[in-house]
Amino acid sequence: TKQEMEKRIWDIKKELGSRLFMPGHYYQKDEVIQFADETGDSLQLAKTGAANKEAEFIVFCGVHFMAETADILSEEHQTVLLPDLRAGCSMADMANINQLEKAWEKLQTQLGDTVIPLTYVNSTAAIKAFCGSHEGATLTSSNAKKMLEWAFSQKERILFLPDQHLGRNTAFDMGIRLEEMAVWDPIQQVLEYDGDPAQLRMILWKGHCSVHEKFTMENVRNTRREHPDANIIVHPECTFDVVQAADDAGSTNKIINTIHKAPPGSKWAVGTEMNLVNRLTQVETDKTVFSLNSNMCPCLTMNRIDLPHLLWSLESIITPDPHHVIKVETQTKRDAWTALERMLQQ
Ligand code: 13P
Ligand code: SF4
Repeated sequence: TKQEMEKRIWDIKKELGSRLFMPGHYYQKDEVIQFADETGDSLQLAKTGAANKEAEFIVFCGVHFMAETADILSEEHQTVLLPDLRAGCSMADMANINQLEKAWEKLQTQLGDTVIPLTYVNSTAAIKAFCGSHEGATLTSSNAKKMLEWAFSQKERILFLPDQHLGRNTAFDMGIRLEEMAVWDPIQQVLEYDGDPAQLRMILWKGHCSVHEKFTMENVRNTRREHPDANIIVHPECTFDVVQAADDAGSTNKIINTIHKAPPGSKWAVGTEMNLVNRLTQVETDKTVFSLNSNMCPCLTMNRIDLPHLLWSLESIITPDPHHVIKVETQTKRDAWTALERMLQQ
């Protein structure tokens, strides 16, 4: 039963003590997040992952790229486990290293040595490693603006992977015009751009988050009509139009803090993942918090981590035969570390 599983997880956590560290992303289910030693957005979890040198086992309650990041930042004696290997990320899957190598070659031919690659942490270790070995870095939605500013201090143009929306929304916020941005289509291997190449500043990889793209202009219009007194706040993985039409936009952390600091009685329509919106509805009892899209929008891969998988993962440590160990190959790990470190240094 659920109670038995929960009790067993608490017992194993107690038995392992500081040998075990369990980070949990905000989008995880409540049944999982209750056990997390640290809850956070991608940036916070990368930082705590980098700081924890003690735990022998890191059981990552999140998706595959986050567990890879934890491994890249971990020490030799630490083992990272992901309770369900099917917990991937459709956005990270939209950029593979072969596509990037081809894209890079073409862009170098067209634009010369004027481009720096920047990747959202929502990407594979191989993509991060490419950025690390080509003077680039990683970023998260919490530090996107700072990292774009850093990148523009290095080169004239940025190749931004894999989320076109985060790239476009952040650059636009910094005063870069849409005419100065182009989209790179990794399937067709073409740059979608009819402007003056001399003006080009942002090259946006044609990737997106399948969860955040579900928040539409129709949702915004309906919310404005049905709840004219509600504030609309969305994640910058939402499309440009939705972000422009919203009252505010920001990373998971910013959404949480903004609503937390808002006056009692205020109303919030939120454009981000379902588990987080539901949690805010429960926690912010003096405010009204609901999803911008009434179909709620869960991240199905985040949701793959559940009680049975978490327990199975922890039992495997006790056995001892750790299952679903995430181990990034040495050279990739080194270069990806460089990309992450450039971010953590900013
Ligand atoms: P943040 O944690 O940076 O807000 O990113 C949200 C997300 O989609 C994680 O997969
Ligand atoms: Fe990937 Fe989007 Fe899910 Fe985040 S919410 S893990 S970006 S699919």
